[in-house]
Amino acid sequence: MCGIVGYVGNKNCVPILINGLKRLEYRGYDSAGIGIVNHNSITIVKNKGKVSFLEEKVDKLDLESEIGLGHTRWATHGIPNELNAHPHANEDQTIFLIHNGIIENYQVLKKGLQSFGYEFKSETDSEVLVHLIDSFTKRGHDITKSVQLSLHEVEGTYGLAVISSKEPDKIIAARKGSPLVVGIGDNENFIASDVSAIISYTKQIVYLEDGEIAVIKKNEFTAKTAFDNEIEKEIHEISMTLDEIDRGGYAHFMLKEIMEQPESLRNSIRGRIIDEDGRAILGGLRDVVDKLADSKRIILAACGTSWHAGLVGEYMFEQFCRIPTEVEYASEFRYRNPVIEKEDTVFFISQSGETADTLAALKEAKIKGALVLGICNVVGSSIARETQAGVYTHAGPEIGVASTKAFTTQLTVLALISLLIARKKNLSKVDGQQIASELKLIPEKVEEILKLNLQIEKIAEEFKDASNFLYLGRGYNFPVALEGALKLKEISYIHAEGYPAAEMKHGPIALIDENMPVVFIAPKDSTYDKIVSNIQEVKARGGRIIAIITEEDEQLNKLVDYAIRIPSTIRMLMPILTVIPLQLLAYHIAVKKGLNVDQPRNLAKSVTVE
Ligand code: G6P
Repeated sequence: MCGIVGYVGNKNCVPILINGLKRLEYRGYDSAGIGIVNHNSITIVKNKGKVSFLEEKVDKLDLESEIGLGHTRWATHGIPNELNAHPHANEDQTIFLIHNGIIENYQVLKKGLQSFGYEFKSETDSEVLVHLIDSFTKRGHDITKSVQLSLHEVEGTYGLAVISSKEPDKIIAARKGSPLVVGIGDNENFIASDVSAIISYTKQIVYLEDGEIAVIKKNEFTAKTAFDNEIEKEIHEISMTLDEIDRGGYAHFMLKEIMEQPESLRNSIRGRIIDEDGRAILGGLRDVVDKLADSKRIILAACGTSWHAGLVGEYMFEQFCRIPTEVEYASEFRYRNPVIEKEDTVFFISQSGETADTLAALKEAKIKGALVLGICNVVGSSIARETQAGVYTHAGPEIGVASTKAFTTQLTVLALISLLIARKKNLSKVDGQQIASELKLIPEKVEEILKLNLQIEKIAEEFKDASNFLYLGRGYNFPVALEGALKLKEISYIHAEGYPAAEMKHGPIALIDENMPVVFIAPKDSTYDKIVSNIQEVKARGGRIIAIITEEDEQLNKLVDYAIRIPSTIRMLMPILTVIPLQLLAYHIAVKKGLNVDQPRNLAKSVTVE
């Protein structure tokens, strides 16, 4: 959840750390801090709030150092304030650290340390670590050994970086359950919780694995296991460019990412369809495809927007592959000892590939012997590496906290997987060809829908002051109703609920009056007549109706207050189209309310704590 960046080399690290923190801010942003070493003494500067506030403070101090660490915090233990912000230092001001994750046994460790006279300044679990490390250095161990011995006593998760002013040539980094990478440069090396923090300095990346400890000096990098065995690490050359990460001229990352969808969808489909056979090829599943097609059951586990993608996946897998499919919240799945058989396949869907609950659920499914597969966006992420096989969505970096292009590419990949399995089972070549050709047309249709941006902005103006919204859809579009409501909640702070349209009469109808906008996702499909009846019911009660309808639908165009007319496709792919206007509606409402669209309050892009 929090962001980590570190530097050792022969440049001034202060601007490098601040730039890195700005890149990481989307991961957590309630406070930030940096720590550096100069002439064997440490300086720590911290601030509540945004990195720009920290930057102002740092600028006034005119700091310089060739080694340092930076951290953006998203509070888990202790309120967001300066004391709880990282880095945390020992009493002697000789050791400081930054930590991402949760130390579960920190109360026990804290009591033990307090009995030895250690005093705690913050309410965080992380501060325990610095005193624990200090206690080992006081027993004569060097900093590397002290970190290693401390971690033997720790239960929980960490992405950790430590510097001692007594050994000011090195950063000690360790990972368990929280992402950490090392960037290899020329006469300089970096650490970060996410490559985006260091990409402008180096593209040579080493991924640390759980249980590994790294010692990073300006000309040297070594990695060890917790038990001191040296490990050969592979250096990966990464292809992501800064341009990809930047806003590309749009006011917000979210808008850029909505507008990028035709391109990200093309990337997601590229090279994965054989037209003449009506088949999909997914290199990442090559070795497991037979076992996957023979699965007795498929489980899709995820959180947030990725969970909504899973719900659409359930409709696809059951309709086309005829395999019983269940969708699970990863957080619930991991804790209730789920029944998993060896013939089951569990897909973990995650944009970041780092969501703590999804990762923990993955480990549980692995222990129980299921085939464990991933659908991830971030290449080389923890979930991508822990699964036996999988498919990348290729959406490109998603920075806006509210997920958009990650969702539509997840739906695309789920459709490709359905096609892959269904053709192995009983789907005919002709039917396969129809899915394949419709998939290929999706990016252009999304382009058409994006042209409705201005119309949707006007609708947003009408509805920006509403306090509640209801989103209704049926079949494949029920998960889209949930996703539309989630988008609005996340960034505009308007209460919104998604429901299957037929459920309206079992409760939500009681809420409907002239103050309740109702968004219907009502393309022409087999449930069309039913949804028209639902719309009539809302109209009869004075509700104001926005409807996503198919282009040629004159009936609903006349009936509803605001019709957003979009191109049509086969039912299984319709959610990729119907969700786009809902993303734009939420975006424009939030902008008109003057809210911080890319960094909504209390939310983080990647939730790497439970
Ligand atoms: C956070 C983000 C959501 C995202 C969810 C799951 O809550 O704010 O946008 O859908 O995590 O993230 P993942 O990276 O696993 O898809």
